[in-house]
Amino acid sequence: MKLFDVYPLLDVEIVKAKDSTLWDSEGNEYLDFYGGHAVISIGHTNDRYVKTITEQLSNIGFYSNSVKIGAQQRLVAALAELMDSRKKEYQLFLCNSGAEANENAMKLASFHTGRKVVIAFKGSFHGRTSLAVAATDNPKIVAPINETPNIVFMPFNDIEALREYFASNGDKVAAVITEGIQGVGGVQVASVEFLRTIRELTSQYGALYIADAVQCGTGRSGSYFSHDYAGVDADIYSMAKGIGNGFPMAAVLIAPFLEPKYGMLGTTFGGAYLACAAATAVAEEMKERNLIDNAAKMGEYLLTELNRIKVRYPDKVKDVRGRGLMIGFELFESAAPLRAALLKNYSIFVGSASGAGVVRLLPSLTISKAECERVIRAIEELIAE
Ligand SMILES: Cc1ncc(COP(=O)(O)O)c(C=O)c1O
Repeated sequence: MKLFDVYPLLDVEIVKAKDSTLWDSEGNEYLDFYGGHAVISIGHTNDRYVKTITEQLSNIGFYSNSVKIGAQQRLVAALAELMDSRKKEYQLFLCNSGAEANENAMKLASFHTGRKVVIAFKGSFHGRTSLAVAATDNPKIVAPINETPNIVFMPFNDIEALREYFASNGDKVAAVITEGIQGVGGVQVASVEFLRTIRELTSQYGALYIADAVQCGTGRSGSYFSHDYAGVDADIYSMAKGIGNGFPMAAVLIAPFLEPKYGMLGTTFGGAYLACAAATAVAEEMKERNLIDNAAKMGEYLLTELNRIKVRYPDKVKDVRGRGLMIGFELFESAAPLRAALLKNYSIFVGSASGAGVVRLLPSLTISKAECERVIRAIEELIAE
């Protein structure tokens, strides 16, 4: 037997990690400025995280959603502590992956409105299951069976186009789904006006606003949800990645007016004891150490420094964008050589995005100033070459 070969792999095997330091099978040390693709939120093998999961495992690892699970209530309480007070009235549905969270979010919108059309945006990524992939702007990963006329793509950040669409089709729209910061799409930040317009139009036409916070959420942007910068609430938030710091866990945060019915949504593993223990440890650690503030501060430092590099090398650096610890640094040329050199010569992991010139920075929210300085020095030396 062999693995189904769908991932292009770097020639390195990571066997150990602590906070933002990784070690490979030969004992070489690396700085993780990629967070395992925005998943690592409180650092690798965090003490509280390991202890909480281990203790839970020694009591009970799994039982089905047919009994009361106190670990779910503890998670709800811990998450509410991190969000604005209005979210205290929201409801949480627990599941297993970002795609599943989005799938359920869109289903819920359709159940609620009785409508079928979901508006998604150019450059979006919402996952690989049937509806989620149909709402993802990448035909290469959409199988013929996933194709549906129910998803309509509109240009990202284009307020007028959205208004026009609603003016003639608003009564058919079940939901608008958008990332607050497009990740795979190259760290494109949704403008405050754009998110406010989505809120306004969905309310006006009886549709729902779904905020995909899978990558840009969990405090990474310097606010719990990057969508919060617009000062308006979504009806549904999908959450995954950083919520479990590597433990498979996802959630759908649902506005109070959306009424649950038995059997409407469900999953075998969602909200199981271990996942809840992991996510509760993450939320508690974030709260206790003010990690969302750290994300904001470190992000500001990185963006300032990267912009300084852009001004210094205007013929090489095309753009710097992002919020908090979700940053895109775009070169005029392919960024693949820069990413490879960061890894080979400086032992630093960073990410890529759909645009060839983009370097994506997605470190843990625990990242230190010294670690950020190390990355800036390395990038600047490589750009100067
Ligand atoms: C914005 C966004 N939504 C959804 C997903 C899908 O999440 P998962 O891979 O957990 O299904 C991703 C994954 O990268 C994502 O970035």
